[in-house]
Amino acid sequence: MSATAADAVDGTLEVADPGVLGRHLLGIEGLDRAALEEVLELTDAFAEIGRRPIPKVPALRGRTVATVFFEDSTRTRMSFDTAARRLSADTVAFAAGSSSLSKGEGLRDTIEVVGSYGADLLVVRHPMAGTAHRIAGWTDAAVVNAGDGCHEHPTQALLDCYTLREKRGALDGMRIAIVGDVRHSRVARSNVLAFTALGAEVVLVGPATLMPPAVGGWPVTVAHELDPLLEELDAVYLLRMQRERITEGLIPSIREFATDFGLTAARTARLRDDALILHPGPTNPGVEISAEAAADPRSVILDQVANGVSVRMAVLFLLLGSGRAPAVDAEPTRGVTS
Ligand code: NCD
Repeated sequence: MSATAADAVDGTLEVADPGVLGRHLLGIEGLDRAALEEVLELTDAFAEIGRRPIPKVPALRGRTVATVFFEDSTRTRMSFDTAARRLSADTVAFAAGSSSLSKGEGLRDTIEVVGSYGADLLVVRHPMAGTAHRIAGWTDAAVVNAGDGCHEHPTQALLDCYTLREKRGALDGMRIAIVGDVRHSRVARSNVLAFTALGAEVVLVGPATLMPPAVGGWPVTVAHELDPLLEELDAVYLLRMQRERITEGLIPSIREFATDFGLTAARTARLRDDALILHPGPTNPGVEISAEAAADPRSVILDQVANGVSVRMAVLFLLLGSGRAPAVDAEPTRGVTS
């Protein structure tokens, strides 16, 4: 594929396989290496747009992207919203906290209401696994899963892969530790699939109580200690630890978890000079990641945030803009619209 940002501006972006994601992006499961690489390559073009003084192109003008969030989120929602605006799509937002859901409106009714605003694509976050999939069965709009319970969070995995690839060229042969509450993490699940599909070796690190029951089916190894691994890791990916895990009896205390598995200043000092530190955010400073580790030059946490916008532009463009629909106006649109 020879995608350039200029092509995207003109609406003539050549994508080798525009249907690479299919109609929806519900998970990393089902996407092969070629599909992931296609998205990452396309992301390069959108990252270039993001570096311009006015980072906006008309590629999705006239299309409407709805964020439909039944769970709190700041960065994921802002990231999708920014991506949609940079592509000149209109945006509408639904947030469960401030909606009629509290008055008993059902999920399906809500989706119908959002659809009646003319949304072409729904970005869905919900605490229950499988919800994005269910919604995809009810609507003509494209659906992007922005996190469904403990199941998947595919755009997070794509932005993490993009960040690793940006720093290291490729994931092939990288040894990556995913540390913490793997069992309840949609980020871990999507990343295991994506990292391994792109040729990395993944080791899951945490107490046995925070490992998924069926880890045998995943192409990973498991370790219950972080210290012996530190010097051999190319990247360490910390997961957010939630306090509920104490009341559920899965960890004795936050302090003990931090002592055993947190990326403390001392552990950070033992990482290789070229190791990378990642976290999906929001972090719990002093729990899974110390302030020193987060601020270390090897931390790419802010790169992850910036890359999230570019990756989501690529996803929105693939699902809405590349030959699937009246992608770009017939009238000539040159340069930047604001
Ligand atoms: C993750 C999520 O919500 O799944 N965060 C995010 O998308 N930025 C990780 C988390 O909250 O633990």
